[in-house]
Amino acid sequence: MTVHRDDGLPARVRLVEVGPRDGLQNEKALVPTDVKVGLIDRLSDAGFSAVEATSFVSPKWVPQLADAAEVMRRIRRKPGVHYPVLVPNMKGFEGALAAHADEIAVFVAASESFSQRNINCSIAESLARAAPVFAAAAQHGIRVRGYISCVLGCPYEGDVAATAVRDVAAALRDLGAYEVSLGDTIGTGTAGKTRALIRTVAERVPVAMLAGHFHDTYGQALANVYASLAEGVAVFDCSVSGLGGCPYAKGATGNVASEDVVYLLQGLGIDCGVDLTRLREAGAYISRALDREPVSRVARALNAKSPLPATTESA
Ligand code: HMG
Ligand code: MG
Repeated sequence: MTVHRDDGLPARVRLVEVGPRDGLQNEKALVPTDVKVGLIDRLSDAGFSAVEATSFVSPKWVPQLADAAEVMRRIRRKPGVHYPVLVPNMKGFEGALAAHADEIAVFVAASESFSQRNINCSIAESLARAAPVFAAAAQHGIRVRGYISCVLGCPYEGDVAATAVRDVAAALRDLGAYEVSLGDTIGTGTAGKTRALIRTVAERVPVAMLAGHFHDTYGQALANVYASLAEGVAVFDCSVSGLGGCPYAKGATGNVASEDVVYLLQGLGIDCGVDLTRLREAGAYISRALDREPVSRVARALNAKSPLPATTESA
């Protein structure tokens, strides 16, 4: 149960590190499996209790994650840490089951056009497709997280009604989702819209079941995290080093950087269990492998002020 302090903010926050999935899925150049495994292991060592590891989706749609089974076989599973994987259909569920996934994430959209482009079917069809996945997961004792995309805007339709998000969230809850993550896929949301969205969704799904998933395309993600905290949300998805975004899609960026969220929470005196130095090390590891600077402002500032020890290991 979420405990709230006198100031209304949650006393503790759970962070779901999604960089290995949401971040890497957008990388055009194939990242070697051992680098993905190295990243996931470093993230669990940094203290995340959930690291979204990969997706069991069609390799034709997301070639980067075609090595999902191998990643799951090779990661070092830390007791107490969940390694959710994305699953779009029963074929994906079977892959996740064979890989001994302990949690799966099912994704649907709040906008019809996005649903068609992302998973090639309508919202209603995606919920119908999800039903047997929920049933099979329940049979195998695997918990299911629900994602909703485009909750604060759609690249094809523009504004998305908060009531539409609310109703999809309720449908996911009814199917058996233990948590519903609200995805601002294109990062157009602002703090005011975020607060209004959470209030509307909470008409049908308790805030304690909601998570925030903010992409930072417009630089609003951290403000949206704070706005959500003020509404009592205590679970956030974030991406190490701000991984994500397509190098070929102008302006698209990744999730809010994990380092920035941890720094924000530390400043608020909210415990999240993540060690910022070890997180920076994980960020440095993947940044070296991708040959780029971390997107995280906090990582950049801290690296400039107190450089991490040089490492001889190759990325
Ligand atoms: P489709 O083409 O309509 O499906 O794709 P299909 O059933 O006709 O199958 C086509 C081919 O894919 C077949 O192979 C299937 O076997 C294969 P073929 O016979 O042609 O050789 N296939 C699969 N292979 C492996 N694993 C599977 C699987 N399913 C079918 N699970 C489908 C429909 C949903 C599969 C496809 O559209 C897909 O995989 N989409 C993935 C989209 C995706 O991963 N998007 C990114 C994740 S969502 C996201 O990032 C948003 C989020 O972060 C929140 C936010 O930011 O808002 C979560
Ligand atoms: Mg996302």
